[in-house]
Amino acid sequence: MVTKSSVAGAVTPPSSASTAPALAAPAPVCDLTVIVPTFNERANVATMVERLHRALEGIAWRAIFVDDNSPDGTAEAVKAIAAVDPRIQCLRRIGRRGLAGAVVEGMLASASPFVAVIDGDLQHDETLLPSMLKVLRAGDAELVIASRYTAAADAEVEGLAPVRQLGSQFANWLGRLVLRQHVSDPVSGFFMIRRDLVDPVAAKLAGEGFKILFDLIASQPRRLKIVELPYTFRERLAGASKLDQRVVVDYLGLLISKVSGGVIPTRALLFGLVGASGVVISLAAFAGLRQVGTPNELAQLFASLIAMASNYLINNEITYRDRRRRGWGLLLGYVKFCALCSIGLLANLAVFSLVIKWAPQYPLVASVAGTGFGALWNYMTTSVAVW
Ligand code: GDD
Ligand code: MN
Repeated sequence: MVTKSSVAGAVTPPSSASTAPALAAPAPVCDLTVIVPTFNERANVATMVERLHRALEGIAWRAIFVDDNSPDGTAEAVKAIAAVDPRIQCLRRIGRRGLAGAVVEGMLASASPFVAVIDGDLQHDETLLPSMLKVLRAGDAELVIASRYTAAADAEVEGLAPVRQLGSQFANWLGRLVLRQHVSDPVSGFFMIRRDLVDPVAAKLAGEGFKILFDLIASQPRRLKIVELPYTFRERLAGASKLDQRVVVDYLGLLISKVSGGVIPTRALLFGLVGASGVVISLAAFAGLRQVGTPNELAQLFASLIAMASNYLINNEITYRDRRRRGWGLLLGYVKFCALCSIGLLANLAVFSLVIKWAPQYPLVASVAGTGFGALWNYMTTSVAVW
């Protein structure tokens, strides 16, 4: 009985649909699943559903909101609609955060031939969805990207602050370099793809960061047929952006990890970069302490402790942001970090002397080997014992 009325509903959508999301029943076949990642978007949920309903008239669609247990009750808002609209689903993830991971899980939960991803904050223009689907259905592309940077959309991105615009364009430029394919907006959060292209690469996709589209393209074994459609990025009206520095750093890490064929994980890379910053800080601290008359040995000791503290704090904020230590745990972590890195330094020296004994004519090689080993030790042990 339910099925019967469902099918009827799909054929003739209710006319009272203009205000509330209509009670349209599920179509016999779902052509398109729209994945909507959300974190604290409660105020935008109802409008989002309403707009999807209007934009996708005549298309058999579903939407999966993937919510990372937002404290503002986004999931409850979605479920309230899902209770009366079978096209809507809420996937609530507990104990996890991350746009990319949320998108991947949503896509994997879908079963339609086509799947789209759109932000849940109304910044993306949902009226573009039917044109995107048309391109995919016609076989003109396997992936359609809604782009903020095509000639038509122009370089002016209205919804972004100037600094974000520059950053976003730089990220795009780097992305193009890595993809070796012209994509004007490879970090767009708005796209539609053939569903069957997702499963084979799902295991390769990084769960962190914002760059799911880029990752999806870079992970394919071959070049995809891509079409880009221009749109204007809208201003955010409710809620706040979750894109912060960590996301930018993540993206750089993802780029390098892709260039290296996935050999270098993002975290190890970040850890290495932070380590390099520590060298600079240590040198600066040493010079400063000498300036104020600190004896050489003491200056070197303090400089090392300062560098270790800064390495520790930066790693805590960036590299291991998701497992950040706080309060007493922060202090205890610092002690452990210093202890492990000191052992790392001994290991570094041991390897150095070993190599220099074999090849006394190559002190630089010995130094690189020692430093590399020490860094590896620090990374492996602190990742387990500190974070
Ligand atoms: N489930 C989940 N988990 N959703 C998240 C998370 C998370 O950790 N972080 C953000 N979101 C959701 C937001 O609720 C929103 O619906 C969407 O993902 C985009 O997040 P925003 O925080 O609004 O991103 P933005 O507008 O600053 O960034 C836009 O531009 C970027 C490129 O510059 C987005 O379109 C990004 O996808 C895009 O990469
Ligand atoms: Mn946004």
